[in-house]
Amino acid sequence: AAAATPLKSIAPFPIGTCAMTGHFDDRAWVDLCLTHCSQITPEWEMKMEYILSETGDYRWDAPDRIADFCTTHGLRLYGTTLVWYSQDSAYFRSLPRERFGAEYDRYIQTVAGRYRGRATGWDVVNEAVAEDGNGLRTCMWSEAFGQDGYIIRAFEQAKLADPDAVLFLNDYNLENLPTKGATFLRLVERLLKAGVPVGGIGTQSHLDIEIPAGQTAAFFRQAAQFGLPIHVSELDASLRSEGRIDLRSPRQRLEQQTARVAELTEAFMDLPQTQRFAFTVWGLRDTDSWLRRDARDDGKDSPLLFNAAGRPNPMFTAVADAI
Ligand code: XIL
Repeated sequence: AAAATPLKSIAPFPIGTCAMTGHFDDRAWVDLCLTHCSQITPEWEMKMEYILSETGDYRWDAPDRIADFCTTHGLRLYGTTLVWYSQDSAYFRSLPRERFGAEYDRYIQTVAGRYRGRATGWDVVNEAVAEDGNGLRTCMWSEAFGQDGYIIRAFEQAKLADPDAVLFLNDYNLENLPTKGATFLRLVERLLKAGVPVGGIGTQSHLDIEIPAGQTAAFFRQAAQFGLPIHVSELDASLRSEGRIDLRSPRQRLEQQTARVAELTEAFMDLPQTQRFAFTVWGLRDTDSWLRRDARDDGKDSPLLFNAAGRPNPMFTAVADAI
C-alpha cells in the first residue's frame, strides 16, 4: 500500500478507531491500526446487547480481548456504551420493578469496574436526545428513572466504579442538526449545574456532507464553552444523498465530503489542547464501515479514511492536511 503519513505521529491528540475482535485476525487491519491509531473503541462488543444475556449473565470474552489488544499494543481503550436506548438486554424487560434499579446500578458498576484503570474514558450515556432534536428520548431507562434521572444515575454509578475515567455524554447529528446540538448542550449545562460528574462531550460526527459550511465549526465553538474535553467519537462521512435529490457529480460530492471533514478537523484543532480528548473514526477501511455491513451502501460509498486495499482516500488527506 502507498505509504500514508502515520496520523498518530502528526496529531497532537489521540487518533482512535472502532474495532471488532474479528479485525485482530486481519493482518492488514492490524497494520493499518497500529500505524495510524493510538486508541480503540469496541464497535459492538462492549455494549449491553453483547455483555448481558437475557438471563443476567455477563459475557467477557470479546470485550476482554479488545482490552488485552490495547494493553499489548500500548493503545488507549475507550469504552462504549454503558447506557443506550438501543441494543439493551432483554434481561431488564423481564425484571420485577423492585429489582430494576439495583440491576441498573450493578450493570454499570460491573462493566465500568472491570475496565477500571484500563479504560481512559466511557460513553456513559449514548444518544439521549430525541431524534428530531426536540427534547430527550423516551426509552426503557427514562421510563424507569425519568428523562434526566437515568442519565444522572448512570453518571453517578460510573463515577463510583471508575473515578479516573473521563465520563462522556455522547450523541449524533449535533453538527448536522443545530436544534439537536443546542438541546444536547442545554442538557450538558443542566447536568453540570446539578453537579453530575459529566467529564466530556462526545460528538459522533457521522457527518452529513450537505450541511452548510461553517455549521460544524459553530457547533464546536458552542461545545467548547464548557471547558470540557471533546471527543470526535465516530467520524464517517457518507457520499450518499440519503434519498434527497442530488444533481451533483460524484466528483463534486467528493469535494464536498473533503471540505466538510477538513472543517471538522480544523474545528477540533482550534480547541485548546486540553479539550482535544481524541479523534476517532468509525472504521478504518470503507469495507469496515457499519454503513456497508448494514447493507445501506451500494458498495460505491467511501465514508472512511482508507479504501478496501488500505490506501488513503481523499478524506485521509483532508484530515492529515488539517492537522
Ligand atoms: C453501531 C456499530 O457500528 C454496529 O456494528 C452495531 O451493530 C450497532 O452500532 N451510533 C453509535 C454506535 O453510537 O454505537 C453505532 O455503532 C453507530 C451509530
